[in-house]
Order: sequence, then C-alpha cells, then structure tokens
Amino acid sequence: MTNKEIKIAWREYYGLDELDVQDRELAQAAIDATALSYAPYSGFNVGAAVLFEDGEIVKGANQENAAYPSGLCAERTALFYASASRPDKAMTAIAIAAGQNGKICDMPATPCGACRQVMAQYQTKSGRPMKVILVGEKLIWSFDKVDDLLPLIFDSI
Ligand code: THU
Repeated sequence: MTNKEIKIAWREYYGLDELDVQDRELAQAAIDATALSYAPYSGFNVGAAVLFEDGEIVKGANQENAAYPSGLCAERTALFYASASRPDKAMTAIAIAAGQNGKICDMPATPCGACRQVMAQYQTKSGRPMKVILVGEKLIWSFDKVDDLLPLIFDSI
C-alpha cells in the first residue's frame, strides 16, 4: 500500500491591475460577458472568455431555460462556441466572472464539475495547458492548468 497525495497551487491577486496585460484583457472580457447572461431564474450572471493561441478572445454567458436542465453554464457556452466556431485553433486560457444585480461578486466563482470536465477535454484537444482565471471584484485566482481544478481527470476513452 502507498499513500498518495495531490497538492495544488494557485496565485491570488487583489485586483485587475496586478495581472499582466493579456490576463487582464481576458479577465475584463469575462466581466463584460456577464452582461450576455440570460438568467431569469437564478439572477446569477456568469460570464466566460476563452483565449486562443493567436490572442483572439471569444465570450459566452450562462443561458437558462424554463426546463431547468436545458440551460447551460457560461463556461460550457463559451467553450463549445469556441470549439464549434474555431475547431482548429488551440485554446490557452479561460477566465470566468460572476455577478448579481449588476455588480461583480467579491469572491471568484468556482466552476461546476461538469464545466471542469469540459475544460479538461479542450485542454487535451488543444495540446497545451489551459490557464483558468477566476475573477472576483476583491480577489482573482489564477490556476496554471485545468488539472489544478480537476485532479485525476477522466480521459480514458
Ligand atoms: N453557472 C455557471 O454559469 N457556471 C458555473 O460554473 C456554475 C453555475 C450558472 C448556471 C445557472 O445559470 C446559474 O449559474 C446558477 O446556478
């Protein structure tokens, strides 16, 4: 028997001004994308922005539906759109922000498990680490790769 342990590390920033130019642009795009949210049921407006290898950014936001499971989180809306519209371009980062009543939440919103799994697969498809930036008004968390949010990723088939 062997005991195993996984440690993760991430960076915590105290404002957009602490980020480098590219991360700041992506984080701002995620904040902007919260305005694209359609969330009449939860009132929780989530925005996501995906960065491609060439610097292009695409945005997505959560879309809710009266048949609740038919809605989709911001991250998957952005990632599916990114892959469906630019299938041959590698993704290198995603930023996520959430807001309520027109104000960005103080603390970073952490992505749900399903979105982490989808991020993981697009990281694999892209063949390079995908940085994950979780943007709050007071705190910003930056993870170097999806594995840091989803250890022991399912990729067996
Ligand atoms: N939501 C996201 O967009 N991303 C997540 O990672 C978690 C939750 C959305 C789904 C729903 O529209 C609202 O937030 C409340 O759960």
